[in-house]
Amino acid sequence: MTSHILHRQTKKPLPTVDKGEGVYLFDTEGNRYLDGSGGAAVSCLGHGHPRVVQAIKEQVDRVAFAHTSFFTNKPAEELADFLCARVPGDFGRVALVAGGSEAMEAALKISRQAHIERGDEKRTHFIARRQSYHGATLGVMSVGYHAQRREPFRAMLSQNTSHISPAYAYRHQEPDESAEEYGLRAARELEDEIQRVGPQNVAAFVAETVSGSSLGVVPPPPGYFREIRRICDEHGVMLILDEVMSGMGRTGTLFACEQDGIEPDIVAVAKGLGAGYQPIGATLVASKYAEAIVSGSGMLKHTHTYMAHPTACAAALAVQTVIEEDDLLPQVCARGETAMKLLRDRLGQHAHVGDIRGRGLFIGIELVADRETKEPFEPDLNVAGRVKQTAFENGLICYPNATNADGVRGDHVLLAPPFIISEDELAELTDKLAKSLDEAVSTVN
Ligand SMILES: Cc1ncc(COP(=O)(O)O)c(C=O)c1O
Repeated sequence: MTSHILHRQTKKPLPTVDKGEGVYLFDTEGNRYLDGSGGAAVSCLGHGHPRVVQAIKEQVDRVAFAHTSFFTNKPAEELADFLCARVPGDFGRVALVAGGSEAMEAALKISRQAHIERGDEKRTHFIARRQSYHGATLGVMSVGYHAQRREPFRAMLSQNTSHISPAYAYRHQEPDESAEEYGLRAARELEDEIQRVGPQNVAAFVAETVSGSSLGVVPPPPGYFREIRRICDEHGVMLILDEVMSGMGRTGTLFACEQDGIEPDIVAVAKGLGAGYQPIGATLVASKYAEAIVSGSGMLKHTHTYMAHPTACAAALAVQTVIEEDDLLPQVCARGETAMKLLRDRLGQHAHVGDIRGRGLFIGIELVADRETKEPFEPDLNVAGRVKQTAFENGLICYPNATNADGVRGDHVLLAPPFIISEDELAELTDKLAKSLDEAVSTVN
């Protein structure tokens, strides 16, 4: 039967998902899939978690929705308290929205509004990085730099953004350079770009703390973000961290930046916040900037109908409570180490695996045509697409993407399994991935 949905791709029919249990999803044909990437780093508690399901039911029974121009609500207030108490830094306010793009769009507009409220009206320019993804709407797409996804809309994107290099040791660190030296060199590109644009014009620097789907899970080199923070402070430039993928425990700490020893000015989270049980995102604003709005105009000039949605907030609060009460963050670190060992043992010497990297249960495997030269596959071979399809046929959901190497070429596989994954399930993931890689690459060779 023809679908009336304008799907992401319309050429090939999709299986229909039927149910989810733990780390597995099942389709209506009875096929079972190990969710090795939580979709796109979303399902951190797996599927069908009873405490989260119960919290949603209770909230819907009480009140599903009430518009935020009339009411606040208890789960939203408690979720905002929860986040502000745990984010590194002095954060007093959170905007609660419906997803990652909305959270990042809010980050950009709140940054601009806070500068205006502080009397710093010239600051309209955003500096971000190449090979980055911050969402699908036009505002955040201007800041992000995923060349392929940007191309059709280039003429519609904002001109007041510019981009520096990603922090990408596998391809950009020189052989005679230490990781720390490379981190400093990469960060100092920001200083040069701020000088070029004029420090008084720059609103913020925007970066994913651990780069996700566009670079292939690349943690920053040591010292990189400390130097970025120093440069931002020197010029009154805000530091906006996009932790839509990497935040909410994915890397083993609630906020990924805790491991880099820095405090952002604004940080956006989404996927793992509600773990897919409800659509939700959050933009946390440091008190220094939030207070400028609160004690200034007192009006947030960025609103949506579904802000602070009670059911979504109840789900997110339940997800975060489970993670904390079940002490899942140490488990993310331990399972992350196991996963890394299994993958390195199995794929570390694979002829087409160039690099295996990550933080916690957030792992990237970079695929190359030639290990020695790091030469990527040609884009028209569609290696990432082949791996995704083959893995899916083998009962594994992973999240391959392309164009990481230079914005045009490069393939990788992103893994982000649920925090509750067992060691046996990690072994199954590794087996299925290794088999799928071999099968996919054999169709290319
Ligand atoms: C780092 C990052 N930022 C923002 C987004 C956009 O989030 P959403 O797809 O929920 O709008 C994504 C989505 O993949 C992401 O990975």
